[in-house]
Amino acid sequence: MTPDEFRILGRQMVDFIADYWQSVDQHPVLSRSAPGDILRALPTSPPQQGLANSTSPDPWHDIFQDLRSTILPGLTHWQHPSFFAYFPANISGPAVLGELLAAGLGVQGMLWLTSPACTELETRVLDWTAQILDLPAAFHSTSTDGSTTGGGVIHGTASEAVLVALITARDQARRRSPDSRPLIAYASDQTHSSFLKAAIIAGLADSPDDHRHLRLIETDSTGALRPDALESALRADLAAAHSAACPPADQPWLHVDAAYAGNALICPEFRSMAAGYAAADSFCFNPHKWLLTNFDCSCFFVKHRAALTNALSVTPEYLRNAASDAGTVIDYRDWQIPLGRRFRALKLWFVIRHFGINGLQSYIRSHIRLGQLFESLLRTDPRLEVVVPRTLNLVCFRLKPLPAESPADTDARNRTLMQQLNASGALFLTHATLPKSHPQGPRLFLRLVPGGTTTTETHIHQAWQNIQATSHPMPDA
Ligand SMILES: Cc1ncc(COP(=O)(O)O)c(C=O)c1O
Repeated sequence: MTPDEFRILGRQMVDFIADYWQSVDQHPVLSRSAPGDILRALPTSPPQQGLANSTSPDPWHDIFQDLRSTILPGLTHWQHPSFFAYFPANISGPAVLGELLAAGLGVQGMLWLTSPACTELETRVLDWTAQILDLPAAFHSTSTDGSTTGGGVIHGTASEAVLVALITARDQARRRSPDSRPLIAYASDQTHSSFLKAAIIAGLADSPDDHRHLRLIETDSTGALRPDALESALRADLAAAHSAACPPADQPWLHVDAAYAGNALICPEFRSMAAGYAAADSFCFNPHKWLLTNFDCSCFFVKHRAALTNALSVTPEYLRNAASDAGTVIDYRDWQIPLGRRFRALKLWFVIRHFGINGLQSYIRSHIRLGQLFESLLRTDPRLEVVVPRTLNLVCFRLKPLPAESPADTDARNRTLMQQLNASGALFLTHATLPKSHPQGPRLFLRLVPGGTTTTETHIHQAWQNIQATSHPMPDA
């Protein structure tokens, strides 16, 4: 494809994307494809003759046709304003342009040398981000007194960030106490599955149920980790270790996985959530969830970059160069799992420059207001209840139990409600269960997170009408 051919097809593709954004709300949010539908619509063998030599004035006609007829119907529309499932993965024009530019520049930034701008823009943008979130000074790569002990890096996902944190923690513990005593990882019993997976990949745990190496600490009725329970677990493990022959590596590594909620720190009024962050060794949040930056973009900050590079740096001769050897540059390959890395900082740079801090703050606040609105609507209907207090814009609710109804039947009615709503195509929401330690037991509930780029009050009112029309019967019926 020549640059001039690329210009023509590129404009067609940008038009295709813009048309999609303008009409995304016409699609059912959750794809109606059955398993295998898309596979069956695709040829089993690749074309022998490509389009490159086509003389047609519209050489990609068939590709665009297939996008419309096969790919779009097979999408669950994450950018639909009534996508309320999981956590959002919201996007914006500036981010998508950054993504396009990163692909077009085709840079692989594993070392400073392999593209100084890829490294230094990332360092600057992550320092901006640390400022915007008001993170402790130790997480900045360049502190005002010129010392540089910490810093940030863009990973693909929060899963990689927690894995890197665990590997670094393991390395530190082994350096301090080189005996082969098993290490223990602690997290809330509401922790994300990525923590358990990382513990397995890092070799700390044998399975998600490996209670010898994993402590999942009880949460309170609001879903928050109970500090007293954490303290007791730590004390018990330390006492057991001290009574054994070798001294334990008793300085834990504290990683804060704020994949979703961390985005709200951009607004000063939510920063009480970050009280105590100064004690953390590492922190991660995902602009690819809630900060208008398309997947993937997960910002990972550490207080001591040396701990990270001690754990992850492996330097064969072919990667050596004068700048790296002099120690005057950052080589982000030593801050992450893969060697290669994309130029992800471009999209975050464009987002911050386009929206500015004020724009990003109003964006987060608009979603919080939508969460408040939905919660207030819920409270008007006696058939429904909010099961844990709303956190930011995450609302957890369910149909109340009917008199004499078994917990399993209440769960089944809630599951049916969710399935009916999702099958309607008008909205998409997902479920979770309360922890076993919750006073109501491990009950199923539904969760609604209004966080789409174009979600407005209208979509919340529509969702509410659908929920009301589908929720039956009354608890006293
Ligand atoms: C707290 C938390 N951690 C980790 C993740 C996983 O994120 P990623 O897909 O970036 O690995 C999520 C996703 O929702 C999350 O909410």
